[in-house]
Amino acid sequence: MSFDLVMFGGTGDLAWRKLMPALFQAFRHGTLPEGGRIIGVGRDDLSHDQYRALIQSRFEKVELAKRPSAEEFARFAAILEFVRMDLSKSEDYARLAETLNNRNADSVVMYVATAPSLFTNVCEQLAASGLNTPKTRVVLEKPLGHDLASNRAINATVRRFFAEEQVYRIDHYLGKPSVQNLFAMRFGNALFEPLWRREHIANIQITIAEDLGVESRGAFYETTGALRDMVQNHALQLLCAIAMEPPINAGADAIRDEKLKVLRSLKPWTAETLKQDVVRGQYSAGTSGGVKVPGYREETGVSPQSNTETFVALRTEIANWRWAGVPFYIRTGKRLSGRDARIVINFRPTPHAIFNSNEGVGNRLVINLQPKDGLELHLLAQGQENRQSRSSASQTLAPVQLDLDFDKRFGSERVGAYERLLLDVIDGRLNLFVRSDEQEEAWRWVEPMLEHWTADTTGPRLYAAGTWGPSASSAMIARDGFCWSEES
Ligand code: BG6
Repeated sequence: MSFDLVMFGGTGDLAWRKLMPALFQAFRHGTLPEGGRIIGVGRDDLSHDQYRALIQSRFEKVELAKRPSAEEFARFAAILEFVRMDLSKSEDYARLAETLNNRNADSVVMYVATAPSLFTNVCEQLAASGLNTPKTRVVLEKPLGHDLASNRAINATVRRFFAEEQVYRIDHYLGKPSVQNLFAMRFGNALFEPLWRREHIANIQITIAEDLGVESRGAFYETTGALRDMVQNHALQLLCAIAMEPPINAGADAIRDEKLKVLRSLKPWTAETLKQDVVRGQYSAGTSGGVKVPGYREETGVSPQSNTETFVALRTEIANWRWAGVPFYIRTGKRLSGRDARIVINFRPTPHAIFNSNEGVGNRLVINLQPKDGLELHLLAQGQENRQSRSSASQTLAPVQLDLDFDKRFGSERVGAYERLLLDVIDGRLNLFVRSDEQEEAWRWVEPMLEHWTADTTGPRLYAAGTWGPSASSAMIARDGFCWSEES
């Protein structure tokens, strides 16, 4: 199958950090369909060869194992081309159309890796140049909008020119092998399903912790913050994967219908829950990996008075039969004590304790997403017979753990998130992409928090870099009689 993948923003950060390395991996492993072209688009006046040289120089920054040898790059470079474009000029789209029409590939992918403010313009111009044929697929990167209204506006414009099945909204978390395993664990095994409900589960905790700060993205982050950057998309997608009903099949719409139902069932915010159940934080100077690091307000591109949150912890519930009353806690932040993404399912304790030490202790399933990818099942067992204990009546149970490491089991060289997603777009598989109604529902739910913070002049709570965030986050969960998994 021949394809043309047009990368708007082809000289930008995302292109060289994520997209090109992912495409190269697919190329190296022979999974990129043969007969493809990758056409970088940018404002610079570059020849094809100059563009190839630029991409090659960027690969120097990619981890060694994923870097091409000179010979490999020469082969990869043969499918790289460049088209100079000013994205506001219609004549430049006409030139792009010429390049594409000359070839008439089976699948044409328009990857819009530009500033979100350009999305609608690019879609309009593509359509005006006749580039919205049934073979065209448009890939839109997050953030798709700044709030519900702007998200709807983008979706409405895109819908004027492209059918929903042509639009691939990226949430790279859905491409992670660990997240796909979550679906496999839930819907490929019957073991957990009977327990996967309010009668057996005490609470669910979703953590996406990063040890990095805002790096070179201070200016972007300043107007974004953790709620828009991580909760509205990645964290809510994880919540959907955990809470959704089994879909009727593995098709894109069957999965997306179920995710949508979860988003629609999220408990609406009230003045009280906005105050009690949401913690916003911002990192101050501290230590990360043994090195002293500045606070968020000292980062480049950030206002010294900034109230932008770099941490969010929240408690919510899903108002449906399966989950009514079960607290779901979400927590994400930058400059936390480590890179650690996991979902913890805390099961209820046995209804009646016959041993000494299991009163109030429930089983726990930990789904590790990164850096480790695997499952841990925490159980209680009769430990080593204790010679000091005089009778079997004083037996105490010991915590034990079943540990499944997917990297060890399947090899750590699995297909990366962007590689998976790019291959799926080329093949026209929408399963791992977000539908517009899901995205709008997520914005609708997030928006009251944004509004509350705009009105609340107290600003975020500070936490030292290298910690687990403000103490209010632990206090929030302690009110329910629980604690974050690392505190237990
Ligand atoms: C991106 C956010 O979507 O996800 C970044 O914009 C964040 O701020 C990144 O660092 C985290 O992704 P990952 O795959 O490193 O967990």
